[in-house]
Amino acid sequence: MSDINLKKIAAETAVGDYVENDMVVGLGTGSTAYYAIKKISELVASGYNLTCIATSVQSEKVAKEHGIKIVDIDDVDYIDVTIDGADEVDRNLQLIKGLGGALLREKIVAAASLKEIIVVDASKKVDVLGVKNPLPVEVLRFGHHKTKYALEKQGCSANLRMIDHTPFITDSGNYIYDCKFESINNPFFLESRINTIPGVVENGLFLNTATTVLMTSENGKLERLVSGE
Ligand code: 5RP
Repeated sequence: MSDINLKKIAAETAVGDYVENDMVVGLGTGSTAYYAIKKISELVASGYNLTCIATSVQSEKVAKEHGIKIVDIDDVDYIDVTIDGADEVDRNLQLIKGLGGALLREKIVAAASLKEIIVVDASKKVDVLGVKNPLPVEVLRFGHHKTKYALEKQGCSANLRMIDHTPFITDSGNYIYDCKFESINNPFFLESRINTIPGVVENGLFLNTATTVLMTSENGKLERLVSGE
């Protein structure tokens, strides 16, 4: 089965299983979350009253193109459910996110959500975080070389994310350093270290954040992993 279909199965199942009429819904970012947004737009077209919050300018654009109205996160008290993708998922449902560049807003939206449903295909499953992918860290532009140096002292090689030979700028006007560790064996410790570095705005470790992960394997079978089970 194609990668696209695997993403679609997880995303559409999440919408079918977790989105109900009159809910406040967080819209994730990336190619998998895209299918969830499209499915949510079908619910809206069929008459569902949903209040939606976007995790990025990109998701807001996709949502609006599909007839979904977006409200500001501060216009709601909390979000009932957010459906988002991830770059890595370990067996304890700890995540790396942010290869799509939206980690800051994604983390704020996740923190305001009662349920965070992560939709992925099985290529995102890892035994240990950080073995396959770098950890994205959003940093202020001011003094970013100093921040890079401090990040590398944590044992990684930190590379400024570039697009077309210029630094990638996040929706909040910051840079991203992609920090490649050999592996992240103690994500909680690493997160606490990274968060003490001046200039770090947010890191892509999403720890104890996912309430459920819907993961489609190569044969199209969907696995549901629930936090605490
Ligand atoms: C964006 C993200 C995405 O959720 C993550 O990169 C997964 O994207 P995709 O579904 O395209 O693989 O964290 O910041």
